[in-house]
Amino acid sequence: MEYVIEMLNIRKEFPGIVANDNITLQVKKGEIHALLGENGAGKSTLMNVLFGLYQPERGEIRVNGKKVNITDPNVANNLGIGMVHQHFMLVDKFSVTENIILGSEPSKAGRINMRDAIKQVRQLSEQYGLRVDPEAKISDISVGMQQRVEILKTLYRGADILIFDEPTAVLTPQEIKELIEIMKTLIKEGKSIILITHKLKEIMEVCDRVTVIRKGVGIGTVNVSDTNPNELASLMVGRDVVFKTDKTEANPAASVLDIKDLVIKDTRGVAAINGLSLEVRAGEIVGIAGVDGNGQTELIEAIAGLKKAESGTISLNQKEIQNLKPRRITESGLGHIPQDRHKHGLVLDFPIGENMVLQTYYKKPYSKNGILNYKNIYQKAKTLIKDYDVRTPTEYTLARALSGGNQQKAIIGREVDRDPDLLIAAQPTRGLDVGAIEFVHKRLIEQRDRGKGVLLISFELDEVLNVSDRIAVIYEGKIVAIVDPKQTTEQELGLLMAGSTVTRKEGEHSNV
Ligand SMILES: Nc1ncnc2c1ncn2[C@@H]1O[C@H](COP(=O)(O)OP(=O)(O)O)[C@@H](O)[C@H]1O
Ligand SMILES: [Mg+2]
Repeated sequence: MEYVIEMLNIRKEFPGIVANDNITLQVKKGEIHALLGENGAGKSTLMNVLFGLYQPERGEIRVNGKKVNITDPNVANNLGIGMVHQHFMLVDKFSVTENIILGSEPSKAGRINMRDAIKQVRQLSEQYGLRVDPEAKISDISVGMQQRVEILKTLYRGADILIFDEPTAVLTPQEIKELIEIMKTLIKEGKSIILITHKLKEIMEVCDRVTVIRKGVGIGTVNVSDTNPNELASLMVGRDVVFKTDKTEANPAASVLDIKDLVIKDTRGVAAINGLSLEVRAGEIVGIAGVDGNGQTELIEAIAGLKKAESGTISLNQKEIQNLKPRRITESGLGHIPQDRHKHGLVLDFPIGENMVLQTYYKKPYSKNGILNYKNIYQKAKTLIKDYDVRTPTEYTLARALSGGNQQKAIIGREVDRDPDLLIAAQPTRGLDVGAIEFVHKRLIEQRDRGKGVLLISFELDEVLNVSDRIAVIYEGKIVAIVDPKQTTEQELGLLMAGSTVTRKEGEHSNV
């Protein structure tokens, strides 16, 4: 039998929704098998069924040809199935090793031999190329490291089949490269992998076969060598998708954002932004390229009035706005699609309709003499929900209940509708699928074409290259280069982002 895992005709329902409808997934030994689908297609549900977290209403699961009944994750573990979840399940205060052995301590006579455990973790980490310090505390290590701990945890429990649920969504480009190497090593060491993703590039790069699901229904399985990103995208969304975002030349006019010699200290008093200057003009999209942690967050927060500027100036429409209250800045013409939609973008326990007036509720026609006019609020919300294709049962549904992509569309609708002169889009497509990404990019370009300025911050180089009219590279709190997206390459950008200046020939690009 060549299949290590067979999920046959699986059906899983939730109240009011069929998350998996007659889905079949067959994984061969030693392959990396992608599970591809848009947000909400039912990928995580299917894997949670395989991992014993959910019981299917119908269908059959076979492991190595034998029919099994996976009643809970322990049963899955014993069958050699391990899962690296989308949201890590690690204890911050514990060490790497403590987290790995948690729940399966080598309990000879009820005692844990930490020295043996550390040794074992070190050995596993060497065997699979998973660099971690077994004694480091979880709260002290990077997200990429934490993910390795999750992988080690499954290996420690003897997993032969590893499920990765959107593992690259939280990683930087460098960390993604490392993870891909790790996956290749795992396969060499005899493991099989199911990789959930909606990034077509990753599938083309590492996977052997792909199973596509769309709106809970299995669409089919194809060999990666027989397909291409265009075909995969249309299988996934059910229509053709444009990758290269269509746009004309920019027509930049007057400056909308002008930052001069900005300095911002982080919580430890270290300069996170260290003399940064940057200009965005009306009618252009300026993309910021940089490795996470080089001051992007602080920069956005300072523009939005959420972080104090030590020195320097930030001008919006030629008026200085540094250190003004967020609402004043918003009213001066700033729109902000925030990086963390849960923390800054939405009030999750409010209906989505009320979230759509979060920046304007205190004004007419939504409020009068301090009393909210719910009729007007919900009327507006209804229009925006329709225009921005926010998929929600009603405008009264809590924001929490919407998928990430639809939450993001709601924020974009709200921010763009206010018609801001400068729109900051921070990671606007993080975690979105191709259909939704296309939608977001179109909206950004639309804003630009209407003569607005757009500042795009993204860790996806593809996105920065595709959407921006100019690219500003940020490194250690400074803009170190401005490059033309039509002239540069991912490689050059990668080097600049790492602080290198050697690749640029004199006069090729303007320095700041
Ligand atoms: N525990 C749950 N209760 C109710 N509905 C759920 C639950 N988990 C997922 N769903 C719904 O099932 C559908 C599939 O979700 P999911 O499997 O998470 O999709 P994906 O991982 O492909 O983004 C979505 O409509 C989602 O809202
Ligand atoms: Mg999911």
